[in-house]
Amino acid sequence: MTDLVVHNAAQVTTPTDDGGMMTTQDGAVAIEDGVIVAVGPTDEVTREYPEENATDAVDAAGKTVLPGFVDPHTHAVFAGDRADEFTAKLKGAEYQDILEEGGGILRTVRATREASRDRLVESLLARLDVMLAHGTTTVEVKSGYGLDVETEMKMLEAIGEAADRHPIDVVPTFMGAHAVPDDTDTDAYIDRVVEEQLPAVTANDLAEFCDIFCEAGVFSVDHSRRVLEAGQEHGLKPKIHADEFERLGGSQLAADIGATSADHLLQSTEADITALGEANVTPVLLPGTAFSLATDYADATAFEAADVPVAIATDFNPNCYSQSMEFAIELACNGMRMSPASAIRSATVTAANAIDRTDGTGILRENSPGDLIVADVPDYQHLPYNFGVQNVQTVVKRGEVVRH
Ligand code: NIG
Ligand code: FE
Repeated sequence: MTDLVVHNAAQVTTPTDDGGMMTTQDGAVAIEDGVIVAVGPTDEVTREYPEENATDAVDAAGKTVLPGFVDPHTHAVFAGDRADEFTAKLKGAEYQDILEEGGGILRTVRATREASRDRLVESLLARLDVMLAHGTTTVEVKSGYGLDVETEMKMLEAIGEAADRHPIDVVPTFMGAHAVPDDTDTDAYIDRVVEEQLPAVTANDLAEFCDIFCEAGVFSVDHSRRVLEAGQEHGLKPKIHADEFERLGGSQLAADIGATSADHLLQSTEADITALGEANVTPVLLPGTAFSLATDYADATAFEAADVPVAIATDFNPNCYSQSMEFAIELACNGMRMSPASAIRSATVTAANAIDRTDGTGILRENSPGDLIVADVPDYQHLPYNFGVQNVQTVVKRGEVVRH
């Protein structure tokens, strides 16, 4: 039995496996057992998979069907917010000064330590709802506002419980090395991450990736190597916040240890970009962070020139408070000068690579997961062209309409 037929779409647009983009006018998609069984012109697809035989059907007349978005970098579980720091930054305060004065990440750590696991689950579920409304069907969520075993575990457990209760696929990342807590120094804290947190997190199978904030004034390249290699020994795949404010060498480390992704990359040089490409590390650019910090954007065109495809993500966190991949795509175009086709690729299949989902996630084709969105736009160009609004209307996860 067919679960779902989406038909009559003005356009079905999808990245292809060979790096291109495929567009079908008057298109349709059929899904069975949560997996795509046909993509093509409506008359062809519905001849084989008639709507009347399907459990559900969506008429997408005048609209565009795309793969569900993949958001491969968020810090979406935390308590409290930092709206007042937002206002302070607008008056000139700097992100790193706020952090050094005990604000920023450390303030969110204090709030998150105090919050119950249930509160974290409830707030994360509400945030996942907003992500879903803007087309996200798979998201990565990091810990890192605990900085002690107990709270890092609480965060990862909250991620796991929210994942069980929400249609979005949630990929958990352990990021104990997000900042140095104020009761210790950096070297001693790295010992705790490696000797206490990593073993506890992995013994309970709470994470798939390990991440670190490799940055001047936070963790060095040596610290990062130590944590990420220890993570690998415990079965966690490495990710790294690299070369954001200063070019410390995080990209080169990512290439050296075979990280799944390297993220931020505002200071990356041509040599860094080549190294990432050669080592098959997916670069993740976070235009929302640059937008909210009012800094320059990462140089997406340099990656494009080197033929190294980039992913984009929201980086949703208390300092970059946007759950919307629609907005990330708009910023990729309007801020980083990517074409709509490249931005959509970055938000789908390349984003899936950044979290090691290489089963066809982010591509509409036979045997891919049945994750798609219907946007109220006549073609994919209109998605970033019509910015600042919610274009996504219907969201399908594994063949089920989860939002309409
Ligand atoms: O990716 N850079 C470190 N982590 C986050 C910010 C987290 C925060 O400010 O709470 C980021 O931008
Ligand atoms: Fe981040």
